[in-house]
Amino acid sequence: PTLTALDVMRDAPVIPVIVLHEVQHAVPMARALVAGGIRMLEVTLRTPQALACMEAIAREVPEAVVGAGTVRSVADAKSAERAGARFAVSPGYTSALGEACKALGLPLLPGVATGSEIMMAQADGLQALKFFPALQAGGLAMLKAWQGPFGDVQFCPTGGIQPGNAADFLALSNVACVGGSWLVPADALAQGDWGRITALAREAAQLQRA
Ligand code: 3PG
Repeated sequence: PTLTALDVMRDAPVIPVIVLHEVQHAVPMARALVAGGIRMLEVTLRTPQALACMEAIAREVPEAVVGAGTVRSVADAKSAERAGARFAVSPGYTSALGEACKALGLPLLPGVATGSEIMMAQADGLQALKFFPALQAGGLAMLKAWQGPFGDVQFCPTGGIQPGNAADFLALSNVACVGGSWLVPADALAQGDWGRITALAREAAQLQRA
């Protein structure tokens, strides 16, 4: 069955936003997240090693579903797909990116922060969107305001979400999941503290949704 953006958002309450600088961290990190109940992994295209990390996870951790984050161009989407990414997350939206992801068979969670951006994504058939940057762009109040005019859209707020505020977002009917970088702290990677990443994933996986 084809994976949809909504499937990606509904799998767990949190999508980890991951920054990897070392290829050797990728597989143990992915296994640590899966052990805690988090399978949808967004590896951001922010480091030169990101594509090699996705390849390693796709090859060696079949229980995980690796996706690419920070996808900004058609070229990004193509290289992510070649590296084994099975979904894409972007900080904004263009129709060119939407079309490219469709052609590649890559479900896209595009970042939106305004009504016009939501309407452009909807016009291209996308209904499962990332709200980015969530805290800075209006937070809970913005999502509540969108429930009226955009009641058919499900959001993944990302940017400023933490264990302390995730539950407030997840309680909203138009929030399918949240995204956040707290599950994979840079120091845990550096120390190889996979147990800490599993513990953070387990807590995140147990958050309640609406
Ligand atoms: C990012 O920009 O890295 C993501 O939005 C995650 O943001 P966060 O670090 O606030 O979770």
